[in-house]
Amino acid sequence: MEIYGINHLNGNIKAPPDKSISHRSAIISALSNQDVFIENFLMSEDCLKTLEVLTCLGVEIEKENSNLIIKGKGIKSFREPETVLYVGNSGTTIRLMSGVLSACNFMSVLSGDSSINSRPMERIIEPLSGMGASIYGRSKNSRAPLVIIGNSELKGKKFNMGISSAQVKSCLALAGLYAEGKTEIIQPAVSRDHTERMLEYFGADIKYDGRHTKIIPGKELTARNIYIPGDISSAAFIIVATMILKNSHTVLSDVGINPTRSFLLEILSEMGGNLKIKNKKIAGNEPMADIEVFSSRLRAVSIDKSMIPNIIDEIPILCVAAAMADGTSYIRGAQELRHKESDRIAAISNQFSAMGVEIAEEPDGLIINGNRNLKVRGGIVQSMGDHRIAMSLAVLAMLSEEKVTVMDSDCINTSFPSFKYIIKKLAG
Ligand code: S3P
Repeated sequence: MEIYGINHLNGNIKAPPDKSISHRSAIISALSNQDVFIENFLMSEDCLKTLEVLTCLGVEIEKENSNLIIKGKGIKSFREPETVLYVGNSGTTIRLMSGVLSACNFMSVLSGDSSINSRPMERIIEPLSGMGASIYGRSKNSRAPLVIIGNSELKGKKFNMGISSAQVKSCLALAGLYAEGKTEIIQPAVSRDHTERMLEYFGADIKYDGRHTKIIPGKELTARNIYIPGDISSAAFIIVATMILKNSHTVLSDVGINPTRSFLLEILSEMGGNLKIKNKKIAGNEPMADIEVFSSRLRAVSIDKSMIPNIIDEIPILCVAAAMADGTSYIRGAQELRHKESDRIAAISNQFSAMGVEIAEEPDGLIINGNRNLKVRGGIVQSMGDHRIAMSLAVLAMLSEEKVTVMDSDCINTSFPSFKYIIKKLAG
């Protein structure tokens, strides 16, 4: 992707549908017992992988534009897949589906691309094995491909997790729906609660409060139609771009503002970002609103460990905001970023410095010396195959007077296929 000559962004757009909620809507609908109509599903590569995996398990799905009908027939209708379940780049697909497949009385094999097959999986293998599933993985049971021999008689357990991960929590919650006895998950910090909200929306017996989630099995999931709100993690690229460019003003409609996801808005406000949240409403069991953003003068910020899970996907673009802010910003306690689609700490530090940002890599974070008059260097930068790195580099490139080429930018299709078109539209 080549970026050149974008000086301001102006206009109204609808943010792309939420990736996390799209995955959950498909999986939980398939586990219910009726047809579910899903409106505004994210037809991105990651979410399509979840649909493909469900199809391999025998779930019938009808697609029309961004709408879906999932013909839910419950977990008992899932049949042993004839092929390897290929999840591509999608961590949410492999981790959530591992939870479901652990409760199915058959064997399945899950594999992904080189990034997925190098990401940590012991974090799901160990607890699911503790519930009674047989799971094997490469590298001493720590990496995909995974072989799962499910067990329809899983045992519910209480887990005190060492890390906060919504993917792990959701994996165990989904397995817990089919276990004997309750499953409790306690995390060190609050992570996104979309699984809990959707299970509650479908009538599951679930209680959740901050770091604590409890599932009592046995209640049938009752299908309800779903509207997927816009993805705040994708909206974040437009929000920060609008703030750092001069004479810019954008309105993003129907963006999800779930409090476990929207912390970036608070941080940007604290940094002096000029934004307004309007027209709050509820879609399904999720809050959403319109976000109006103006060019802003930003100041530095410090982020510590307890805040990380609530901005885990927004740190790359937050670093772009920090690069243009007055003062030095610190991001600490963010080791988890090394286990995402790429090692995001290394990727941000290397690629941002190549573009002229004063940035230092720490084992668990980054230090960024902001500069409001930053002159971003042109040239070639690498996305490392990571969609959020590619889009962050593209936004940083908007500050350059020279052409910037982001290599391997197709990965953007995993979460935000319309990114380029939306930017072109807003840039006029
Ligand atoms: C996700 C959870 C987060 C996030 C990922 C999507 C989800 O991962 O980084 O992009 O849909 O549950 P962890 O919760 O594992 O950190």
